[in-house]
Amino acid sequence: MGNSSIKKILITGGAGFIGSHVVRRFVENYKEYQIFNLDALTYAGNLENLKDIEYNDNYTFIKGDITDEGFLTKLFVEKRFDGVIHLAAESHVDRSISDPLSFVKTNVIGTVNLLNQSVKLAKENPSFRFYHVSTDEVYGALGETGFFTETTAYSPNSPYSASKASSDHFVRAYGETYGLPFVVSNCSNNYGPNHFPEKLIPLFINNIINNKPLPVYGDGNYTRDWLYVKDHARAIDLIFHQGKNGETYNIGGFNEWKNIDLVKLLCGLMDKKLGRKENSSQELITFVKDRPGHDLRYAIDASKINRELGWKPSVTFEEGLEITIDWYFDNQDWLDHVTSGDYKDYYKKQYQ
Ligand code: NAD
Ligand code: TYD
Repeated sequence: MGNSSIKKILITGGAGFIGSHVVRRFVENYKEYQIFNLDALTYAGNLENLKDIEYNDNYTFIKGDITDEGFLTKLFVEKRFDGVIHLAAESHVDRSISDPLSFVKTNVIGTVNLLNQSVKLAKENPSFRFYHVSTDEVYGALGETGFFTETTAYSPNSPYSASKASSDHFVRAYGETYGLPFVVSNCSNNYGPNHFPEKLIPLFINNIINNKPLPVYGDGNYTRDWLYVKDHARAIDLIFHQGKNGETYNIGGFNEWKNIDLVKLLCGLMDKKLGRKENSSQELITFVKDRPGHDLRYAIDASKINRELGWKPSVTFEEGLEITIDWYFDNQDWLDHVTSGDYKDYYKKQYQ
């Protein structure tokens, strides 16, 4: 895809965790582009994530819902985007268990709405590209060994991963049926600044600071592969510009941790930061009822993106965690703001 042909890029979900890092990267690195951030500002979307770039000339925020067909039609006719990077989604597995339908609405219907508009633009613009940002959770669960590759069969286990698998399939089907140029990436668990404190790492950092219980699901012997969010944003940039149409790329951190070991590592780092006695935060660990359908292990084989696009993670887990913890210490206001709305009620419902 030639850079010169790309002018207007729509990024959906740019006020969320990963989206905010992708928007910032594109706004700062591609001054010749116009970046449009379309976000409904749900509980997970927060414009504070982008306050350092909100007045940049090449950046426009659009508040809107991807499930609103009329709104999207008007927007696409008016702006005639040259490419779409689609991140908007409902993203939390636990919420998908208590409210699957909202995941179908945003992740499936919202994606199909975007695809319908994109097909029209692609007909008139041969360099148009639709990029779907997806998850490794579509592949289901691994046992103690093995890795997900780009050819692993889809086998989603949660309503969240089923909705993302479905949207991946729609993207591919639009490529086959309507000739839509697309790329898909499936990434492992991200962590870093701006992560909403309902997910494991930011929730536990917040709880350790506030001396609250750390609810470890089941026995904690579940494994995730963690990637620093800015390394994911860099991979998305590379794939958008250099990935091959019709291809899938797995993105991972080469960084597997059992939840319980990760929580202990986090407790140790936080004890040092807070000047607490060694091992004192570990006393907050509370084993709670397991998540239904809890996937035992995710692990990504990211050799394709490494081989074809030269990507690999740039920070170690220790470095990334250090930056992340410091960010949460320095951004207590952000934490207060994002946890003052809907999230508080949700938290009460789940764990108190
Ligand atoms: P997030 O929940 O932090 O952000 C999602 C954003 O989408 C929010 O800003 C929200 O306001 C917006 N949004 C939700 N519904 C919308 C709608 N109907 N219309 C418009 N905007 C809407 O999510 P995230 O963790 O940043 O994930 C972003 C994408 O990356 C998702 O598609 C997710 O499936 C995928 N992904 C996430 C991870 C991870 O570890 N977080 C890993 C791999 C892939
Ligand atoms: P999470 O951050 O929700 O990401 P995902 O479910 O998409 O992998 O959870 C990461 C792991 O941590 C997962 O195995 C579930 C577990 N977990 C807990 O043990 N306690 C918690 O409070 C949360 C939110 C997650």
